[in-house]
Amino acid sequence: MNYSRIIGTGGYLPEKILTNAELETLVETSDQWIVERTGIRTRHLAAEDQDTCDLAEKAARRALDMAKCDASEMDLIILATTTPDRIFPSTACLLQARLGNHGAIAFDIQAVCSGFIYALTIADKFIKTGAARRALIVGADIFSRIINWSDRNTCVLFGDGAGAVVLESSTQPGILSSHLHADGAYKDLLTVPATIAQGRLHGDAFTKMQGNEVFKFAIKALSQVVDEALAANQLDQDALDWLVPHQANIRIITATAKKLKLPMEKVVVTVSEHGNTSAASVPLALDVAVRDGRIQRGDTLLLEAIGGGFTWGAVLLKL
Ligand code: ACO
Repeated sequence: MNYSRIIGTGGYLPEKILTNAELETLVETSDQWIVERTGIRTRHLAAEDQDTCDLAEKAARRALDMAKCDASEMDLIILATTTPDRIFPSTACLLQARLGNHGAIAFDIQAVCSGFIYALTIADKFIKTGAARRALIVGADIFSRIINWSDRNTCVLFGDGAGAVVLESSTQPGILSSHLHADGAYKDLLTVPATIAQGRLHGDAFTKMQGNEVFKFAIKALSQVVDEALAANQLDQDALDWLVPHQANIRIITATAKKLKLPMEKVVVTVSEHGNTSAASVPLALDVAVRDGRIQRGDTLLLEAIGGGFTWGAVLLKL
């Protein structure tokens, strides 16, 4: 049996840090409200001259270094983003050019905060069918560019960043199963409704969110999808070494951990320092815990995320 295994991880956060105290000067909010309701204390913001491909390139190079691979060895590049640098070509193609890879399959995935889980799943299918041997998967977003900085409902939640993994075909177990879902009936609960036509942007190009509705749906959907992943592998919660969840809100993370009866010591939490970095959130959290030595080769991990669409999913894997 052919598996795809993660052989390298990488992450990048822009230098500039925005604290809750600074947000207090922008909108009517407080450090106490933000920490209590979300768990977020700081988030990183891209510099004006940084684009999504810049962030993606840094994370990708770190993942390639860990994997001891050259970019030219990748035959698939998938980049998950909601904030691409151009309408086209895809940011995956821009990244491919930066890395000096010629000829690999390269495309973007748009599934908002679930983008990395979607991208990882697609790459796994390519590798399992023999259509690719090595793949570079990146989640990168500059959400600060689609946030209205005078809307307290959204501006306290998001940050910028990129995370990446290198996948390789292996006979050793790697990705065990993946479970993707979407329901477009919820398209208006979390959206940037603007469109482009006749050379101009039409409509509102800022993130709109009915936070409370998203919150309730997220808890329900994530609880179901983590159960689905365990059941598909006939595993119970004890088999899990780590939960690497989407980092949107500490209350959603703790609710999912509770559902899994997992102690918080087995949950990777970066939301307090990163905020919600959308497609970058899961691979950034994974990279942090791999590099600080908490996650070890051979561990069983459950990755999950939910985002606009709604889209949601989980990946169960052996590292
Ligand atoms: N500071 C102070 N008060 C605030 C702020 C703020 N930044 N934001 C909202 N409030 C107020 C509201 O106006 C409301 O006041 P009211 O009672 O006078 O009307 C009150 O706080 C409570 O508002 P709720 O929306 O009910 O607060 P809630 O406990 O739901 O927390 C939050 C809001 C943090 C947004 C939460 O709902 C949440 O995390 N939602 C999910 C977000 C998410 O998971 N997104 C994932 C996908 S993201 C993606 O795909 C891009």
